[in-house]
Parts: sequence; structure tokens; C-alpha cells
Amino acid sequence: MRWHVVESYEEMSRMAAGIIAEALERNPRLVLGLATGSTPVGTYRELIKAFQEGKISFKEAFAVNLDEYVGLAPDHPQSYAYFMEEELFSHVDMPPDHRHIPRGLAPDLDEECRRYEEVIRNLGGVDLQLLGIGVNGHIGFNEPGTPFDARTHVVELTPSTREANARFFESIDEVPTHAITMGLGTILEARHILLLASGPTKREAIRALREGEPDPEWPATCLWLHKNVDVIVDREAYGE
Ligand code: F6R
Repeated sequence: MRWHVVESYEEMSRMAAGIIAEALERNPRLVLGLATGSTPVGTYRELIKAFQEGKISFKEAFAVNLDEYVGLAPDHPQSYAYFMEEELFSHVDMPPDHRHIPRGLAPDLDEECRRYEEVIRNLGGVDLQLLGIGVNGHIGFNEPGTPFDARTHVVELTPSTREANARFFESIDEVPTHAITMGLGTILEARHILLLASGPTKREAIRALREGEPDPEWPATCLWLHKNVDVIVDREAYGE
């Protein structure tokens, strides 16, 4: 695991975008695993800027997102499909049929999980997976206790995750109770993983990750089982 401790959210975002841009230049048909939330927004801004300056193109690249809330339509402003549209896709040239995200309104959720695994398999797997980290150490929506070999599945969100995400909704009651997420096993199959963390609320989760041992109570620690992980954290998240 390669650790990069930077001074600010902006520096974290620039470094992450640089790694993604380089990977895209090396392989225009890159399969990118993408995340939502506050953490990657700056990275997406940097990527949009690089695209607008003609430095990178997503025309041949693919995206598979980590997760989606159950019960929200893609045009719901709090859905992750909507988020991706707003924060990245509508600003770059990735063809719509190259962008994948679990369908939160699928009538058969188990079937949707199987379909999503197949989407990833048919693309040849994820080349570069971008991750944020929850205050409880979750990645995707793999909450504490998730087995490290879990595939894409439906999860019940913990009260801490629903509280952390309530800021985007009118009230906590509107935060969905379930989500579809790539599993830890699915994530660990990505060829390269890039985890970002910023701000003091992530310090405890980063402290657990710094312990250096896989611990199911802190899902992100499964990344110690992977050979090619970059972690970019700002000083506030890293602690002393
Ligand atoms: C989002 C996701 C989550 C977030 C995590 C951190 O697709 O999978 O694991 O990365 O909850 O969220 P933020 O970045 O909002 O602190």
C-alpha cells in the first residue's frame, strides 16, 4: 500500500486526477470504477478541466460505479446516477452506454446484483477503482462485518451511514434504508485501487487502515490483501 499524505483536499484531488489521467493516456479503453460522495468531487472537477483543456478523453473509456441507493430513480437528485451525471458525465465525452451504475429501482434486486457482476466481467474487470471511505471504514456500502469475499449485494445501511448521508436529504427519514453495492471481493479484483480521504471525520477510519492488518470491523482494511493500492490522504485525515 503506497501512502501519500498531502496538505489539502485540493492537493489530494489534483494527485488523484493525475493518476487517473495517466492511466487514461496509457489505456484509452480504461475501465474506471467510480465513487460518489463529497470526496471525489474535486477529482472529478480536475478531470473535467483536463478534458476541457484537451488533455484527456473518455470517449473509449468505461465507468462502473460502486453503488446506488435502493428505491431511487436515476433522475432523483439524491441518486448516485444523478450525482455522476452532474459531477462528471454531463461534462465529458464518455458515451452514455459506457457508463454503468446499479439500478436502484430494479424489480428483482438479487438479479440486478448478478447482472452488475456480469457487466463488470464482460468489460474485462475494473482497471482503476476510485474509493472514498466512510467514517465507519466502509468502502462502497460495505458496512463493518461484511465478508472480504462478498460480491455485489444489497445492504441495509447502518444508522451511522444514514446519518452521515442525511446532509444531502431534507431529513434522515428520507435517506434510503438499503443500497446495492459492489462487494469487497468485487472491489479487490480491480487491478489498481485508489483510496482518497480528507478531513478530520475520517481520522479514525484512516487510523484503523494504518494498523496494517485486515479487520472485518473496518472494511477498508481488506485493501491490505491487494498488491496495488494508492492511498491519498490529507493531513487532517491522517492525524499525527
Ligand atoms: C460512494 C461510496 C461511499 C463513500 C463514503 C465516503 O459511492 O461508495 O463509500 O465513498 O461514504 O463518503 P464522502 O466522500 O461523502 O465522505
